[in-house]
Amino acid sequence: MWTAFSSIQSVSMTQAAGPATADLSSADASLATKVARRRTFAIISHPDAGKTTLTEKLLMFGGAIQLAGTVKARKSKRHATSDWLEIEKQRGISVASSVMQFPYRDHVVNLLDTPGHEDFSEDTYRVLTAVDAALMVIDAARGVEAQTIKLLEVCRMRATPVITFINKFDREVREPLELLDEIESVLKMDCAPVTWPVGMGKHFGGVYDIEGDAITRFRPGEEHASKDVERIAGLTSERARALFGADAETAGMEVDLVRGAGSGFDKAAFLAGTQTPVFFGSAINNFGVREVLEALIDWAPSPQPRDGGSRIVKPDESKFSAIVFKIQANMDPQHRDRIAFARVCSGRYTPGLKALHPRSGKTLRIGNAITFMAQERKHLDEAVAGDIIGIHNHGQLGIGDVLTEGEGLHYAGIPYFAPELFRRVRLRDPLRSKQLRQGLQQLGEEGLVQVFTPIGGGDTILGVVGALQFDVVAGRLASEYQVDASFEAAAIHTARWIICDDDKELAAFRDANAHRLATDSSGALTFLAPSAAALAVTTEKWPQITFHNTREIAAA
Ligand code: G4P
Repeated sequence: MWTAFSSIQSVSMTQAAGPATADLSSADASLATKVARRRTFAIISHPDAGKTTLTEKLLMFGGAIQLAGTVKARKSKRHATSDWLEIEKQRGISVASSVMQFPYRDHVVNLLDTPGHEDFSEDTYRVLTAVDAALMVIDAARGVEAQTIKLLEVCRMRATPVITFINKFDREVREPLELLDEIESVLKMDCAPVTWPVGMGKHFGGVYDIEGDAITRFRPGEEHASKDVERIAGLTSERARALFGADAETAGMEVDLVRGAGSGFDKAAFLAGTQTPVFFGSAINNFGVREVLEALIDWAPSPQPRDGGSRIVKPDESKFSAIVFKIQANMDPQHRDRIAFARVCSGRYTPGLKALHPRSGKTLRIGNAITFMAQERKHLDEAVAGDIIGIHNHGQLGIGDVLTEGEGLHYAGIPYFAPELFRRVRLRDPLRSKQLRQGLQQLGEEGLVQVFTPIGGGDTILGVVGALQFDVVAGRLASEYQVDASFEAAAIHTARWIICDDDKELAAFRDANAHRLATDSSGALTFLAPSAAALAVTTEKWPQITFHNTREIAAA
């Protein structure tokens, strides 16, 4: 979603509708109360399902934006995903739109964007480590698509609770029962429909609130405020029958089936990530969206305790701690500062906070952390657990780094994945080798590419998960570091990180496989396998060596 909010730039905060509720930053609310009122979630979907549209509507409910001009932003996106130059142009916007905060009811909602393009799935994974829940958008005509499956796998790994929004019922789409079946069988998650569509396309009458036994009537047309819509009692009421005829009857039968299957909403199953409450609607018409936001507030978890390595850290502890999950180069290429996005895990950030950076042992003064509301950057006066703070830095902070108020905590859970595509880097102008090294190191720290240095010497090898990452690396090396490098095919199938407790065995392994070993940017030893067969043979031959397909990013 590279351009999600490009048009929002023109919407100043003073123009925007006022916040939905009072600000919670007043000093009288205790830390525990503030934390309990945080909801931090990511929107996930296959490209084109309606993530951007839904995000805009959610921001509108929070009073963060008005809607004018947002269509243009979506239109320009088409080109942005295939061309690094476009990506570069949009980079500033993607920085701004990656984290959004807005108030709703008496809560503070943190909404994290996930990159739409599958080639940046690693980035998405890291974002998902920073949230407490996910909102999955499904295109009702297309059902469960490839990217959704991958993203859901990530949610499942972390047992992240997922709310589902099935979008585009204003079109002729697939039958709701069929869609639920597909979610259950493909995504291996029980569905608990909360609303049910009455008709679709030209006959889309509205959604039936199963628990509340009332239909919210759909009126086609642009972006009406959903609080103005008509509520009709029951599917079998005279008015429902008069308005929706056979569609009301069909919906009634389907709802009976759903009820009969006993798939009512079960909060414990939702929180465990095994059941997803399902909502139907049309994001573009702002229909069914408020219900989703209400569910997020009512059901999604507030920030939870986290394993800090030596102990469990509670979110409302007074001492500050945070974990960096994303590094983004700044919008201004002249200044090599970067923004580290950190999720606050406990305590309170206030400007001037002195935080220990356990990895380096240094103390950093965080003077001006930022947050974003729509496109606008705001300096933060306060952040608590669940909030995301953007910290300017010049490379001190890396992905996975922890910041604390003195304690040597270690929050686990942000891995590098074994790359699937490899290239050798050849420098066209040998005089630029220092710049190449610096560029690759910094792009590596951003998590854009993995950089392997063969232990026996030779060309540096780059590894990525998605091919588009190479284009971005080449483009940024040229524009930011004035390095002209070519990337050539490398006969490498995959990488495995090597762990072995027995030093003698490890030394023997190194000697025997030196031509296939490299160190990654953190110095970790990596086996670069030329084929799956070679990996299998080597694994079998060296049983005392563990070949890991992920490496947790070093923290404390
Ligand atoms: P994404 O971020 O998940 O990639 O999707 P996005 O919101 O950009 O939506 C993809 C397309 O689907 C857009 O159309 C958008 O207008 C349309 N869309 C989103 N929600 C609905 C809905 O509820 N009903 C219908 N009928 N369409 C919906 P587009 O033609 O690509 O762009 P645009 O010309 O509308 O800007």
